[in-house]
Amino acid sequence: MGRLIVVSNRVAPTQEGRPAAGGLAVGVLDALKETGGVWFGWSGETVAEPAPAVIEQQGSVTYATVGLTRRDYDQYYKGFSNTTLWPTFHYRNDLARYERQEYGGYLRVNVALARQLQPLIEPDDIIWVHDYHLIPFARCLRDLGVKNPIGFFLHIPLPVPEVLRSVPPHEELMKFMCHYDVVGFQTDADRQAFVDYIERGGHGNASEDGMVHAWDRFLKVGAYPIGIYPDAIAKASGQFSDRKPVRSLRDAMRGRKLIMSVDRLDYSKGLAERFQAFERLLQNGPGWHGRVSLLQIAPPTRSDVQTYQTIRRNLEGEAGRINGRFAQLDWTPIQYLNRKYERNLLMGLFRLADVGYVAPLRDGMNLVAKEYVASQDPDDPGVLVLSQFAGAAEQMPGALVVNPYDLNQTAEALERALSMPLAERRSRYEDMMAGLRKNNLSVWRDTFLDDLRSVATAASVTAKARSAAPAAGAPSSASVPAPVPSPAAKAKAG
Ligand code: G6P
Repeated sequence: MGRLIVVSNRVAPTQEGRPAAGGLAVGVLDALKETGGVWFGWSGETVAEPAPAVIEQQGSVTYATVGLTRRDYDQYYKGFSNTTLWPTFHYRNDLARYERQEYGGYLRVNVALARQLQPLIEPDDIIWVHDYHLIPFARCLRDLGVKNPIGFFLHIPLPVPEVLRSVPPHEELMKFMCHYDVVGFQTDADRQAFVDYIERGGHGNASEDGMVHAWDRFLKVGAYPIGIYPDAIAKASGQFSDRKPVRSLRDAMRGRKLIMSVDRLDYSKGLAERFQAFERLLQNGPGWHGRVSLLQIAPPTRSDVQTYQTIRRNLEGEAGRINGRFAQLDWTPIQYLNRKYERNLLMGLFRLADVGYVAPLRDGMNLVAKEYVASQDPDDPGVLVLSQFAGAAEQMPGALVVNPYDLNQTAEALERALSMPLAERRSRYEDMMAGLRKNNLSVWRDTFLDDLRSVATAASVTAKARSAAPAAGAPSSASVPAPVPSPAAKAKAG
């Protein structure tokens, strides 16, 4: 069997124990460690001149990373990826901005990265591309003659067609997506959004078995919700629950209840609404004063994108305002920490928390929700309060699901979670752990890769049959529009 080549913009740090930013790096690293393989992507550094990939071996994983020039970083990462696609895909078109030149940079970087990866590819490898930075990547590889199976997984939501269409090159992006053999989404709602885009736009059609025929391409489209390894997390949280920072927090709580949240500092995470719902809890329930604290850990990311600077200022203001309103000499209601912690330590802290408070306004999956549950002490588990807009809500039946825009409802859920009897907490925890074990990270990886292998095998059989008898069984292209020009040509033109 050939190697697995994973391609993503962000590659997890090569040193064990360093905090990884975001669910993608965490999930992919754990999934790749087991199978072994190559991980290709951006090194996280900007460089004066493009240079060949730096290769580094860490256990079973070979890291191949490349730097981006400042112009590439500005146009591809900061610009089109994080100022156009990220806000729009999280339903924040109000924060999105589009610049044609940045889109040109996005295409140019995809072409350049494909050129750097191509010499590393062997004939039996299968290639798995991740996330919104790299939608055109399969098309770029195909233009270079790469014949290997190529799959794509979108870690963030895909918005409904009406919203997606606000991205000016939406049609070209969806055509690029159709150059993969398998396209995976986090939830069925995301998969449906893609199918709706294709079908309602008259670009093609989907069949019951998940195959989509659009723009003269056949691909498999499915929902593959990313998981975690719950038992490994349970073990780590037990081991780390006695570490000094966890003990210090336990001492500082002095018997108070703890509500805990961990998120990258991002407007999609609904941190202001979260603080305000906690404020509502204190406002409506004076009995909680001095008896409960909210610990919000929010490491800053993408801090050179303007909208992230604004949200940081707003949150500092909100935390200060609420603390000013309710704090007592020996009690600070909100502890707001803008720093990263090592992952295992976070699991130890989660075990201490009575409530895991995961309330994004939009989120592809949100692995923190899953990690919080897996970190709990089975004999005395905490309660998960979870936004209905996180992909995880489809999978966590034991959570108290809230609409984060409804501050009263969220405050009531927090209150209920803080007061929940042990028997109910245990039964909810056990339901969720059973689901996490059943749909763990290996299941996510193996289901996706099995589909990729079988679709690619079927496609090569069809291609051979077609070249033997061109008229027989060839898909009709009469009903679908012409394929999109290559990203290389587009990048040059832009
Ligand atoms: C989310 C995205 C990932 C991204 C991560 C961290 O999880 O889905 O693609 O890597 O955020 O963001 P950053 O911009 O720092 O890579």
